[in-house]
Amino acid sequence: MADQSIIRITKELCDIQKDSDLSLAVACRDSDVRNVKALIIGPHETPYEFGFFEFTVKFNKDYPRKSPNVTAITTNAGRCRFNPNIYASGKVCLSILGTWRGERGEEWSAAQGLESILLSIQSLMSSNPYENEPGFEDANEASDKKNQADYVQKIRHETLRISVMQRMEEYLGLAPDGTPSASAKSAADQEDNDIDMQDLDETSVPFEPFKDLCKQRFLWYYDSYLAAIQKGKSEVKDGQNFSRMPFEGSSNAMEGKFNYSELERRIRNIKKALDAELEMWAADGAKENAKEGTIAVNLQNQYEQVIEAFKADDVPHHVQLENGNPFVWIITYFGPPMTNLDGGLFRIKMHFSPRFPEEQPRVRMETKIFHHRIAADGTICYFPNYSKREDVRSHIASIVAALEEEDPAYDPRTLVNPEAHTLYWGKPEDRKAYNRRLRRSVQQSMEDFPEA
Ligand SMILES: *[C@@H]1O[C@H](CO)[C@@H](O)[C@H](O)[C@H]1NC(C)=O
Ligand SMILES: *[C@@H]1O[C@H](CO)[C@@H](O)[C@H](O)[C@H]1NC(C)=O
Ligand SMILES: *[C@@H]1O[C@H](CO)[C@@H](O)[C@H](O)[C@H]1NC(C)=O
Repeated sequence: MADQSIIRITKELCDIQKDSDLSLAVACRDSDVRNVKALIIGPHETPYEFGFFEFTVKFNKDYPRKSPNVTAITTNAGRCRFNPNIYASGKVCLSILGTWRGERGEEWSAAQGLESILLSIQSLMSSNPYENEPGFEDANEASDKKNQADYVQKIRHETLRISVMQRMEEYLGLAPDGTPSASAKSAADQEDNDIDMQDLDETSVPFEPFKDLCKQRFLWYYDSYLAAIQKGKSEVKDGQNFSRMPFEGSSNAMEGKFNYSELERRIRNIKKALDAELEMWAADGAKENAKEGTIAVNLQNQYEQVIEAFKADDVPHHVQLENGNPFVWIITYFGPPMTNLDGGLFRIKMHFSPRFPEEQPRVRMETKIFHHRIAADGTICYFPNYSKREDVRSHIASIVAALEEEDPAYDPRTLVNPEAHTLYWGKPEDRKAYNRRLRRSVQQSMEDFPEA
């Protein structure tokens, strides 16, 4: 009989995965539910904005009577303290974890759970984390004001450098200078030796559950990263040292110097490598298709079913495959009447990975359009239904829903087009300006459409 703690942990993991909170993710190996990895995406309007912070959470048999152990992994190998309460060693100081003196009622109880722990950690990532440190809560000495601003400034730099760029470069096998890294070269050698992955033990394969998620999110937030770099550049000079905070110790600090020019160069390389993946997916997909591989056949079948379903339901949109390749779908999307998209004609491209659905499709609007859910490069911010990740029709429905959504609730996690987002969520006259620009781009789409 499975013990109670396993049942409870499994249920909590499912709930978080099904939940639509776009800033939290959790995963574990099937064989090891007690060792969970968690990802927290840094909140909007903080120096942690859209950073990828990873944690391990270890549960033992006493859970939920006892709290789990939580360790921060995103520490630049133990060298970076990202927050007064998140140490370079990985220690996370929180009263509900029993690692921080707390007020009554803040300590652990079985009513808490993994999600409340992650939300508590996320709330440490505030717009002024200097105040998390006891004794500095209501600091208003001039020197403290200066420290607060300096602290925010260095956290923003290290969020970009460590939590975003180091992670992405590792995923993509890039060295910071943009060349393939040593580990990427050895991985390529291994592929040449044709190691059969099936023969490898689960634990010898790196467990990187957030790789695809972070790539997708990187594409969502790319313009925000660039904006943060521009802001940093305007505030500090390259080569300037980080200032030390009064609460930082010698081996528990955030040290280094600013180099935003370097960050800008690196982030552009990462974007280039991600864009190049799509061409590789298409080429590898075409080979899979020639071999009639399982995923090629599956996508081909789904394609035929989608065409049938569109016909049956009188959906106006068209779908076709690029060069007959089931890994590249082209959707012609007609803006629905009586909406802001009325009269528009748009081309949407869906790229599928040879590892679909483990790697989720990348979806781009090829037609230029000014829309708060579409990034400058056309990346569409939509939420696939977690339990239908392998179902392309469900993806298409979610894409259409994102484009057509009326009166969405404010959600800064969908901030993929900073300019459109600011207008959309601004004052009434800003919303009007947004609508005008959207309408203009919709009219333009008709004139520009290739076959029109
Ligand atoms: C958590 O850490 C404490 C102290 O290091 C240790 O005694 C305990 O066994 C750990 N619990 C788990 C679930 O790993
Ligand atoms: C920024 O980083 C690059 C690459 O490491 C280096 O060549 C350059 O000297 C750095 N700039 C400053 C001002 O430190
Ligand atoms: C910056 O830090 C380095 C070592 O961390 C030190 O050698 C250098 O003197 C510092 N520069 C300034 C301007 O404080």
